[in-house]
Amino acid sequence: MTLADYIAAQQKTVDAVLDRWVPPERQNPSTIHRAMRYSLFAGGKRIRPLLAIAAAHAVADDPAGVESAACVLELIHTYSLIHDDLPALDNDDLRRGRPTCHKIFGDAIAILAGDALLTLAFEVLSRLEEIDAERRIQLVRELATAAGTVGGMIGGQVNDLEGEGKAPTAKLLDSIHRAKTGALLRTSVRMGAIYAAAEPEQLAALACFGEHIGLAFQIVDDVLDVEQPSEALGKTAGKDARQKKITFPAVHGIERSREMAEQERLEAHLALRGFDDRAGRLRELADWIVRRNA
Ligand code: IPE
Ligand code: IPE
Ligand code: MG
Ligand code: MG
Ligand code: MG
Repeated sequence: MTLADYIAAQQKTVDAVLDRWVPPERQNPSTIHRAMRYSLFAGGKRIRPLLAIAAAHAVADDPAGVESAACVLELIHTYSLIHDDLPALDNDDLRRGRPTCHKIFGDAIAILAGDALLTLAFEVLSRLEEIDAERRIQLVRELATAAGTVGGMIGGQVNDLEGEGKAPTAKLLDSIHRAKTGALLRTSVRMGAIYAAAEPEQLAALACFGEHIGLAFQIVDDVLDVEQPSEALGKTAGKDARQKKITFPAVHGIERSREMAEQERLEAHLALRGFDDRAGRLRELADWIVRRNA
C-alpha cells in the first residue's frame, strides 16, 4: 500500500472511532454536540492519532483497539484548536477550511465545545477495554501531563501569547514550541508505545523520535504560515507575522528554518535505528510531516 493510501485508510478508521465516541448531533443539548462535531469532522490531517497507531505497530504485531486510544489525541488537539482560534487567543476566522467554531456557534458554545472534547478524551481512556487498568492510568497521566501547564500544551500556549511582540530569541522560541505543540506530538508516539506494552528502551527511543518530530512539525507549521496561501492551509496565512509571534522564520529566517526541520527529521530517523521494518510507517510519517504543504 502506498503511504497516501495508508494515511487515507488510517484517517478513515480514526474518523469512524471518533464518530462512535462523540454523542450524535440530535442528542440533547444538541448545540454542543453539533459544535463538537463541526470542528472535529472538518478534515484535519489526524497526524497525532496516526503517529500513535504507527508507534504501536512498531512495537507489537497486533495492538488491538489502539485506535480508540489514538483518537483521544485528536479530541485534545481539536479542543486546543477551537480555543486557540478564540478572539481572546489568536482570533482566527478560518480553520480546516471552514469558519472557526466561535464564528458559527458563538464564543460561549465554542469554549464549552473545547471543554467537552477535553473531558471526553479522559472518559474514553478510562473506558479502554483491551488493556489493563494500570496501563489505562499510565495513558491518563501521560496525556494530562502533555496537555498541561508545566512543559505541556497549555504552558506553551501561555508562553506563545505572552511572547507576542517580545524580541524573538532562539531560547524563548525553543521553549514555546517544545511545549505548545511538541509535547502532544511526543506523547502521541509514547501513548501508542505504552498501549502496545513497549519495553523501557523502546519507549525511550520512541519518545526521542517524538521529540524530534514534534519540533519539526512546528517549524514546518511556522514556515507554511509564511509561504502558503490561506486556501492551501485552510487557515489564515501570514498571521504569525501580523501578530508578532515568536516563530522559527522570525528568529532564523525561512532557509535556515527549513534546514532545521530537515535536521530534526534526520534525528527522528536516527532514534528509530534499533527498530525493524515494523517501524516503516512511522518512518514514512516523519517524512510526510516535514515535507507536507499544508
Ligand atoms: C495545527 O495542527 C495546529 C498546531 C498545533 C500548530 P495540524 O496541522 O495538525 O492541524 P490539523 O489537525 O491538520 O487541522
Ligand atoms: C497552536 O499553535 C497550538 C495549539 C493549538 C496548542 P498555532 O497558533 O501556531 O496554530 P495555528 O497556526 O493557528 O494552527
Ligand atoms: Mg496560537
Ligand atoms: Mg493559532
Ligand atoms: Mg501556526
